[in-house]
Amino acid sequence: MTSGTRYLKLLIVFLFFSCFPQVYGWDEDILISTKNTSLLLSGNYGETLRFSHYGNKLTDGEIGALHDGWAGMNRNAYPAFGDETTSLTSLQVVHSDGNPTACLALEKIEKTPASQGELTSIHLKDKYYPLSVVLNYETKKDDDIIEMWVKVVNGSDGNIVVKRLDSGFLPVRTGDAWLTHLHGTWTAETQPTVEKLTRGCKVIRNLDGARNGQNDHAEFMLSLDGKPEEDRGQTIGVALAWSGNYEIRLDTENKYCHNIMAGIHPEMSELKLSPGETLTTPKMVVTFSKDGMGGVSRNFHNWARHGGVHGGQKERSILLNSWEGVYLDVEENKLDEMMRDFAQLGGELFVMDDGWFGDKYPRKKDNAGLGDWTVDKTKLPHGVEGLISKAKKHGLKFGIWIEPESVNTQSELYDEHPEWVLQVENRDLKKTRGGTQVLLDLSNPDVQEFVFGVVDNLMQNYPEIEYIKWDANTPVMNFGSTYLGKDNQLALNHSYHKGLENVLQRIREKYPELVIQACGGGGGRVNYGTMPYFDEVWVSDNTDALQRIYMQWGTSLFYPSMAMAQHVSASPNHQTGRATPIKFRFDVAMTGRLGMEMQPSAMIDSEKRFAKQAISEYKRIRPVIQFGDLYRLLSPYEGKGVSSLMYVTPEKDKAVFFSYKLEHFRDQAIPRFYMNGLDETRDYKIREINVAEGKNPSYLDGKTISGNLLMNVGIELPLEEEYASRVYELTAM
Ligand code: GLA
Repeated sequence: MTSGTRYLKLLIVFLFFSCFPQVYGWDEDILISTKNTSLLLSGNYGETLRFSHYGNKLTDGEIGALHDGWAGMNRNAYPAFGDETTSLTSLQVVHSDGNPTACLALEKIEKTPASQGELTSIHLKDKYYPLSVVLNYETKKDDDIIEMWVKVVNGSDGNIVVKRLDSGFLPVRTGDAWLTHLHGTWTAETQPTVEKLTRGCKVIRNLDGARNGQNDHAEFMLSLDGKPEEDRGQTIGVALAWSGNYEIRLDTENKYCHNIMAGIHPEMSELKLSPGETLTTPKMVVTFSKDGMGGVSRNFHNWARHGGVHGGQKERSILLNSWEGVYLDVEENKLDEMMRDFAQLGGELFVMDDGWFGDKYPRKKDNAGLGDWTVDKTKLPHGVEGLISKAKKHGLKFGIWIEPESVNTQSELYDEHPEWVLQVENRDLKKTRGGTQVLLDLSNPDVQEFVFGVVDNLMQNYPEIEYIKWDANTPVMNFGSTYLGKDNQLALNHSYHKGLENVLQRIREKYPELVIQACGGGGGRVNYGTMPYFDEVWVSDNTDALQRIYMQWGTSLFYPSMAMAQHVSASPNHQTGRATPIKFRFDVAMTGRLGMEMQPSAMIDSEKRFAKQAISEYKRIRPVIQFGDLYRLLSPYEGKGVSSLMYVTPEKDKAVFFSYKLEHFRDQAIPRFYMNGLDETRDYKIREINVAEGKNPSYLDGKTISGNLLMNVGIELPLEEEYASRVYELTAM
């Protein structure tokens, strides 16, 4: 070959590659990394930002090879309507001239230090309109979490309408991806649903208006290598942290990728932005683990304890909630007895549930009183202060129930302020619980002030209150606000939840130490949108221990044990009529924040002795359960008739193992149990706790056994009787 020909060939190669610069390099490769994961976005200034990778950690040096192999899927990093053609998009704005499209190009990238990592803000600008979109990615490095959110700025001198604004967009390479998400209903919440992602669009959404966790949940996992497994497989976890209606779309439009889009549901959340105004989305919280669903759960739990839930570093108290013990038949003497008995069992906190309030319209039934947070002196002649002094006398802390967003039409509040409730002109007022319950209009600042005042007045009048159960028992039924005016009715859902957020922020600024439970008519408020303000969730109104195993399993996919309120209730259970032994009930409740929900005087003496012993054991193992790493071992959903899980300290020196029998018949094969999370090279001393009165501990009690045997060879468990259960405490030698 002559040197001239060689030169010509080199020139052709050079010209060829310079026509396709994106294949071999971009102006910017934006690498956002945590301890074990990376997100890579790439782009040229003035052009569309591209998604390149999310998953296992990458180094800078590996980026070139990733692009070379077209592993980068060359997807738009945040598609806007009009920019993408045939695909679903994450953003739609209508400009003041009626143009319904956007065309976003990379403008600038900022990186700033953040509390547990780094914040990367990527500024995109519409090529032809003064519209800015900022994509934010904040890393929580040690927890392998990236929080994503988006800000839109209307830089024009006219109004724009935001019709859709997702918190995040994340393409996932197709393969054999399986979706696990939670679905349920009242008294049967958080049931995992597992399905293969196929072509078409899977939508998970909530339209309750007020609570968004009772049916579908705003959290899900994607197992990328086939059917979900607890301990292995590349797995992505996503949670949309928003208390209102949401829509999560998993769109598989072609053979290359599933597009994940999560954000506020556009229905009743259409927003107008005036000149200069900005709109910020809630956060989409994303994690990745190679260790299957268990790895993803532990990342969420760690992140939750580091700020995702309020008071994540604080040990939770053992409480008795009055609801199933007395319901609305509140009487001072009965409560005094309850407190006395609970204190004798070793309890720490008493919670006065529904039924303590209402003066002109006393809350004798569930059709009156909500809104009037003054004590009913016929039931409680010595007022709330009387209850507090009784709790003190018994050495208990005190907590109280409120449902501050709701009002009964039979209340003084409704008589005074009928305009404060959500309502639609020219329509009948739709009412829910008790035939009289409606929701206050939290978009109205006067209502926000009132709701803040419900907590503030209680705390000012009774500073000894240490715990509040904040309930929410009704969906939005009336889609209208007297406050928002005729042009903004379509923004109602967004405005309600911004109002709620504002109230909760004010409460937290003033009362950071107060423990607050998010209850939503059972598990209706299990969502990370509210958790920066709440310390825990009520998992379900169904306290049947057997069904709780299933629901707690589901909730644990995303929520840490310390934030899961789990109460021992009466047998037969009030919701299902099932009779179970006191040991089974305690063994099930002890995997989370332990409590009781019954009249202790109804327990027979042997049950009381057991309860006292179990409560004192819980106090000792509480740090392992509330702050340890969860390993789910045997799923109740596998149909093996047993279930098991354990908690291990990060140092792997202490652990607590739980196992349950779910079905019972002759000649039943009980599988071998394999522990997890221990140190294979260490020996563990085993102690059986919660041994039922008159029964012997199993053969494992008192033995010292290697981590290797416990995890890899497995152990046989004697679970002979119906509703048998075993709890072992492990201490490394
Ligand atoms: C809801 C809650 C219950 C209880 C009742 C009181 O249903 O989930 O725990 O507080 O309200 O009315």
